[in-house]
Amino acid sequence: MDSDQWKLASLQTLEYLQRLGVKHLPKPSAQLSEILADWVDVSSKGSGGTSIPSSRPQLQAPEPKQPTSQVPKKPAQAPAQVAAPVPVQVASPSAMEPASRSVAKPYGPPVESPWMTPARSSQERSEALSQLKLQVEACRLCKDIVCHRRQTVFGVGPVTTRFVMIGDAPGPEEDRLGEPFVGASGELFDKILRATGIARDQVYVLNTLKCRPPNNRVPSDIELDNCRPYIEAQLEILQPEYIICWGATAVRAVLQTTESIGRLRGRFHCYKKAKVLVTYHPTYLERAPEAKKLTWQDMQMLMRELGTLKA
Ligand code: URA
Ligand code: URA
Repeated sequence: MDSDQWKLASLQTLEYLQRLGVKHLPKPSAQLSEILADWVDVSSKGSGGTSIPSSRPQLQAPEPKQPTSQVPKKPAQAPAQVAAPVPVQVASPSAMEPASRSVAKPYGPPVESPWMTPARSSQERSEALSQLKLQVEACRLCKDIVCHRRQTVFGVGPVTTRFVMIGDAPGPEEDRLGEPFVGASGELFDKILRATGIARDQVYVLNTLKCRPPNNRVPSDIELDNCRPYIEAQLEILQPEYIICWGATAVRAVLQTTESIGRLRGRFHCYKKAKVLVTYHPTYLERAPEAKKLTWQDMQMLMRELGTLKA
């Protein structure tokens, strides 16, 4: 294709994304043409959907691979759609509505919607997560972050687990070591888990953002949108009973609200079949130790739910 043809192709692509309702579209530019040229070059070299996919935006809405799956309704997620080589479906936001009625958005009544895919064996989960991890490692969507990160931090833990813990984003230590919650905030995180009677090696720990934002700044909405499909895919594979959101960033991604932790904590919300508990982030607790007792109350609520704390 010559450059005029590329310009036309990029304009058509932008139109297509606009029709889908994608919000944060780039301005048509020569650079975009180059990106698209690069993307097509990469994807045409691959052997279809089973190769390690490019992190480039997927320009076509994906074909649902399972009869029970739903096509994502929120088109803002289309650019970061994970071209999963395994049948991992990205959740539709409608399946993520929290039980809370005090949230900013006009949520409907809580819907206990099922996981989109049937539960998998441990081996299938491991394989699906390994594939997804490769996709995360190849991701270059967040231009302001990707040049600063040392590595991506996918998440760790047993693939068959009742609990998924979600933090915000890797800090310097996590960026260096490639695992979540291994730096300063990890110490308090571990202590809280120990006090709750949950061993860290019983839980799967992941971050909302897979890369460290420069200077640990708060992620933008676009960055959250870019990363959300990865978390959704992780949750779909792991199908936990409980999701614990540590801090506002995890809440933004999982419950899709900017409502404060203070207003959301103290009761369970839902994400598909999982119960979601919201509490303060360990880093915040270091800064505001008076909130520790509230997080402890949240953990006690979980323990009562699990039957490990009477009364
Ligand atoms: N804070 C998080 O939320 N996650 C990490 O991995 C480190 C700090
Ligand atoms: N704001 C956050 O981002 N996290 C908290 O835990 C509390 C306030």
